[in-house]
Amino acid sequence: MGKKNIYILATGGTIAGRAASETATTGYQAGAIGVAELLAAVPELKAFANVRGEQIAAIDSKDMTSAIWLQLAKRCEEILSQDDIDGIVITHGTDTMEETGYFLNLTVHSDKPVVLTGAMRPATAVSADGPMNLLQAVRVAVADDAQGKGVLIVMNGTIVSAREAVKTHTTSLDTFKSPEIGDLGTVQDGEPVFYRQPLRRHTRESQFDVKGVQELPRVSILYAHADDDGFLVRATAEGGAKGIIYAGMGNGSIPERVEQELAQAVKQGIIVVRSTRSSAGRVTRAEASYEEHGFIGSDMLNPQKARVLLQLALLQTTDKEEICNIYHIY
Ligand code: SIN
Repeated sequence: MGKKNIYILATGGTIAGRAASETATTGYQAGAIGVAELLAAVPELKAFANVRGEQIAAIDSKDMTSAIWLQLAKRCEEILSQDDIDGIVITHGTDTMEETGYFLNLTVHSDKPVVLTGAMRPATAVSADGPMNLLQAVRVAVADDAQGKGVLIVMNGTIVSAREAVKTHTTSLDTFKSPEIGDLGTVQDGEPVFYRQPLRRHTRESQFDVKGVQELPRVSILYAHADDDGFLVRATAEGGAKGIIYAGMGNGSIPERVEQELAQAVKQGIIVVRSTRSSAGRVTRAEASYEEHGFIGSDMLNPQKARVLLQLALLQTTDKEEICNIYHIY
């Protein structure tokens, strides 16, 4: 059998970053290097796949927008519908990679692999990690075992489901983890090995379709802290938010004054989801009053992923029970 055809979509990030010196690993310009240069830097790719690429954006991923997410999802669907394409690798900044990955996990309807990768050191650094990560991502994208596993993040030899991946460290190369569920697999000496598969609904089975969608509903994340008096709840409600993710304490606990403000927001038609500022664990049923107000638990989704799911859910419904069910399925 011939080599598989993998399409690379470049969006910028540190993997395409250029620094002033070979020792600089911070303070560089992300997204400065184009897709052709990225691919040319890893000639080993040719041994494993036929690769060609396209530049979708050239940004530092802190500036990721829902407009680019929508463009990426539509482009992935177009490319994967071609019989001669076997998978996609997306190069992306690590800062919002988990959100983009989860968005695509919910909006790209294909069993063909979609793999996100990036780097923690700019392309110009001594021991840049981007070339190896790109090679490993392409090796995963051509693996038969990667099919039907949803969108994957491959960095530093680990394969993580986009649903569960979290950027856990500000600068370490080994930053993407799945604190609760663990990795799906590993890349050992270039060889991908899978041990598990995601069970939450994704990609081909997903109910979310963004084909005709031009923008996503406004959903804010508010972060709990001592002395929180709910001032930001009022501000975000007045600002026109359709949903609020409250990153509560521990098991999604909400300070009393904030709870009253959030209850008021629900009465105005805003959907409120309880997530957590803790780094791992599910948000489960807690105070009876939370249920009475109609607050929804985020299950195991961290605030930024709970936000992605609520934006997509709100395209289809504002019914609290339906949205609650969506958090149990995805
Ligand atoms: C970015 O997210 O674009 C910058 C940081 C990184 O890629 O590691």
